[in-house]
Amino acid sequence: MNLILLGPPGAGKGTQAKAISDRCNVPHISTGDMFREIIKTGGDLAKQLKSYMDKGELVPDKLVLEVVEQVLTAGKGKQGFLLDGFPRTMPQADGLGKALSKSGRKIDGVFCFSVPDETVVERLSGRRTCRGCGVNFHVKYMPPKKDGVCDKCGKELYQRDDDKEATIRNRLAVYHSQTADLIEYYRKKGVLIEIEADKAPEKVAAEVDSRLDALMKG
Ligand code: AP5
Repeated sequence: MNLILLGPPGAGKGTQAKAISDRCNVPHISTGDMFREIIKTGGDLAKQLKSYMDKGELVPDKLVLEVVEQVLTAGKGKQGFLLDGFPRTMPQADGLGKALSKSGRKIDGVFCFSVPDETVVERLSGRRTCRGCGVNFHVKYMPPKKDGVCDKCGKELYQRDDDKEATIRNRLAVYHSQTADLIEYYRKKGVLIEIEADKAPEKVAAEVDSRLDALMKG
């Protein structure tokens, strides 16, 4: 299976990703997570990436495509994938299509999560992420059992640098101007699966699950 998670920041893509990747037995590949790992290592590329991400701007297509193509053709995505946060622009979608067609592959489904902008602001300003295993919590909607501590691995929870309100609003503006056109692009290709994501996480998971059933039955 070659799957994509599409939707605004904070739509719940990362929250739903593990169940989907486990069920389809494909790796969860998040470009945001990949870039945050590179930033931890330091150096020139890390500085460049951080400067875009801290402002809520997109990393340039050329740089993104170089990193992702390698992962999809020779790395962990070569037998199938669940992409999260990629593609985000038309050139990225074209680049992905070309890279896949070279090896006779195609996109099987694009789960598009929709939520209103104000829900995004509320979700992201309350998000806390584990420094150890990367799992996300929310101070109000998915609180950890102990304040500031991950339920799964016991490491510290932190707030992402780009989860400040002004940056969240810029990420939303960037989504509407540069990414939302991909919804129509994948609808025309007949692979779009629309998910109403403005409801409790378990209800979103149930909807995703039933749409996956249909997709797997073909
Ligand atoms: P990235 O890391 O991809 O961030 P994003 O797309 O902005 O998405 P998020 O991870 O913020 O949100 P999510 O939908 O996964 O929501 P989550 O499940 O965490 O990108 C960061 C940056 O990297 C970009 O701004 C850009 O600079 C760069 N970048 C990355 N990819 C790029 C690319 N392809 N091209 C160029 N630049 C790129 O949930 C959010 C919160 O809500 C959590 O607290 C969660 O607990 C809570 N929550 C989840 N579901 C629910 C629910 N149903 N009800 C209530 N709360 C919920």
